[in-house]
Formats: sequence, structure tokens, C-alpha cells
Amino acid sequence: MKKKSLRELFDQHHGFGSDKWLSYFEIYQKQFESLREKEINLLEIGIQNGGSLEIWAQFFPKAHRILGCDIDAACAKLQFADQRIDVVIGDASDLKTSQKITEKLGEPDIIIDDGSHRVEDVIRSFVLYFPKLSPGGLYVIEDLHSSYWPDFGGGSDLQLSSMGFLKLLTDLLSKDFWKEPSEDFDYLKPYADRYGVYLPESQFEIAEMSFANSICVIRKADRSVLNERLVSGKIFEVVGRIETIASQDKSDGKLVVSHEQLKQATDIQKEFIEISSKALELKSENVKIRQEIVEIAAEVGQLQSENTQLNSENTELSSQMVYRATELEAVHQELAEQQAALDAREADIQAKELQIEQLSTRVSQLLSSTSWAITKPLRILSSMLKSIWPN
Ligand SMILES: C[S@@+](CC[C@H](N)C(=O)[O-])C[C@H]1O[C@@H](n2cnc3c(N)ncnc32)[C@H](O)[C@@H]1O
Repeated sequence: MKKKSLRELFDQHHGFGSDKWLSYFEIYQKQFESLREKEINLLEIGIQNGGSLEIWAQFFPKAHRILGCDIDAACAKLQFADQRIDVVIGDASDLKTSQKITEKLGEPDIIIDDGSHRVEDVIRSFVLYFPKLSPGGLYVIEDLHSSYWPDFGGGSDLQLSSMGFLKLLTDLLSKDFWKEPSEDFDYLKPYADRYGVYLPESQFEIAEMSFANSICVIRKADRSVLNERLVSGKIFEVVGRIETIASQDKSDGKLVVSHEQLKQATDIQKEFIEISSKALELKSENVKIRQEIVEIAAEVGQLQSENTQLNSENTELSSQMVYRATELEAVHQELAEQQAALDAREADIQAKELQIEQLSTRVSQLLSSTSWAITKPLRILSSMLKSIWPN
């Protein structure tokens, strides 16, 4: 029975919702076709409604596991009928999330980045997940138009965008032929500095890069297959026959590598990739830790300057307190003086009152005396005379 194309599966899908740009279907069909009947592991960053995970499960009927990762915790509630589909909640560009993904999925054969599409996330995720991809595996980045949008951290004139990064990676396709070691000219350093990631080219063994509208598919190199120059034909009349390694080995145009040698090389390569991927994780953790240290140091600096400010406020308040205490003492002194003056006044008043009391006693005695009664006619006469001659 003819297998349905990805487009047919998408158009006939009745499960959870999904949306994809038309330009993706042709490139997906071409790139994924050879893996269709394989027991692959697939990771998709960005689940949203979950439809794409269901469609991938149909497209890859023999897939071992299909894992979606989303930062939105609501995605954990999605119930998938296909038991091969699983979900991890977390920020895909975070080291801890990548560890959870590795625990669940092991080595992915396909990774699709349909997450935030922000430039820094696209690059961080690539750095984290590409080294984990199986040899010959495919890494897809969707919605690359966001690379030209400033509100996604991009811009058409910006060199350090996700498209700028991918264009630089195309140079790695022919890295074997570089005449100088990459460390000498810090090939990816501007990206490492800008996005705080560790970017050793040795981790990015790339065999093929395909671009279409807003999408890029990057095929990881399979290091067990060595690149070599092949020669065919027997007659070389214009330019002499090129000496290949194979011809030096006296074979007939084919590189002679025993199965055992190839296996050993592959094992060493695998070990190297594992160690390098661990080193990569540690280095990117290191970058994060260093960033945290810088942030903490900035916080400490801020606290110290706040402390200095508080101390100087404290000193100012203490000197104000001393000044106020002196003022208070002067006020107390003045109060005591005024109190003494008041006491003196009161004693004076009391003395005067006593005097008045004595005088009034004296007056009443006088008024009730006989001499006062006897002299009454004289006082009447005197007042009459005063009314006649006032002075
Ligand atoms: C375009 S949608 C995914 C669509 C889905 N793949 C499909 O084809 O139907 C993008 C999703 O990425 C998620 N996302 C955004 N930033 C993320 C991050 N840093 N890590 C993981 N997921 C993220 C969003 O929550 C959103 O659900």
C-alpha cells in the first residue's frame, strides 16, 4: 500500500491542532523519507496543541519514541492516544531541561526546533542538542523568518542572527580543507560571546545543510564514513593520474580500511563525542555559573552601596541627635530658670496677699473702733469741704 505523504497526513489529521508553513512539506518529505521505516527517536521543541507530535507518530510508524518539550505547563495535560508520545515541560534552552530530555529519549535521530523562535533560544538549543544527535541525524529549525525580526532578537542587517549563524555553519561543511586551525581565527566567537555559549566547531560535524523558505535542515556527519578522493578510468592523457591513499595502498582505487579498524575508529569517535558533549555541557554550565557570579557580584555591589548610603544617613542622624540633645538641655535650663522666676513671683504674690490681709484686718479694726465713730462728723465735714474746694 502506498504510504501517505506528510502533506496528506497533515491535511487528513483530525486529532490535536497543528500549523505549519506550506514551504516546509517538500523539504520535510525529502529529508525524512529515508528514516520513515526506521526505529527513530524524535524530539520536537514546541508542542503547543500537540498536533504535530501526533502527525510525526503517524509519519514514522516504527518510531521508538516521540518526545515534545514545551515551556507551557498546560501541555502536560494533553492526553495522547499513541503511547510512544511523551512530554517534557521546561525551557528547552536550559541545561536541566536538556538533561531531562536525554533521560527520556536517549540519542535523538531527529530534532525539530519549533519553540520560541527567538534568536538566542534557536542558537542555545542548537548548541545544546546538536551534539546529542545520532551520527547522520537531522536537526531542523522552523520559522527562520523570525531571524529578520527585531522583536525576536533578529534583524535583516544583524550579523549575529540565527540565519547569520547558520550561514557561518555552512563553512563547516568543508572544514577538512581549512588550512588553519579554527581556534586561530575564533570562527564562532562572536556568537559565543553574544549568547553566552561554548561553541567548539569540533562538536558540529555537519554533512549537509538544506535551506528553504523559513526552514533549515542540518544533517550531522557520520564520522565512520571518511571523505576521500575517488578516481575512475584508466587513461590519463592530459593530466596524470592522481595518487590516492588507496592507490598508495596498492588497491584498485578504493580506500582499504579493515572492518576492525573502522569499528575501532567508530568506537573512539563515539567516546570522543560523548566526552566532548559532556565537556560542552559543563562549559555551558560554567558560562551560566560565571554569569550568575557576575549578577551576584553586581547585587553585592548594589547592597554595599546601599549599606554605605545607610551608614552615612546613620552618621548624619547621630550628629543631628547630639545637636538636638544639646538643644534639649538648653531648653531644660531655660525652663528651670523660668520656673525659678515663677516661684519667686509666686512667693512675692503670697507676701503681698499676706500684707493685704493684715491691712484689711487693720482697717476693720479701725472702722469698728470708738475713735472712728467720734471722728465721723469731722470726716463728713471734710468731704463737704472737698466738694466745695476740691484742691
Ligand atoms: C509554534 S508553537 C509549536 C507548534 C507545534 N510544534 C505545531 O507544529 O503544532 C511554539 C511553542 O513553543 C513553546 N515555547 C516557547 N519558548 C519555549 C522554550 N524556551 N522552550 C520550550 N518551548 C517553548 C511555546 O509555549 C509554544 O507552545
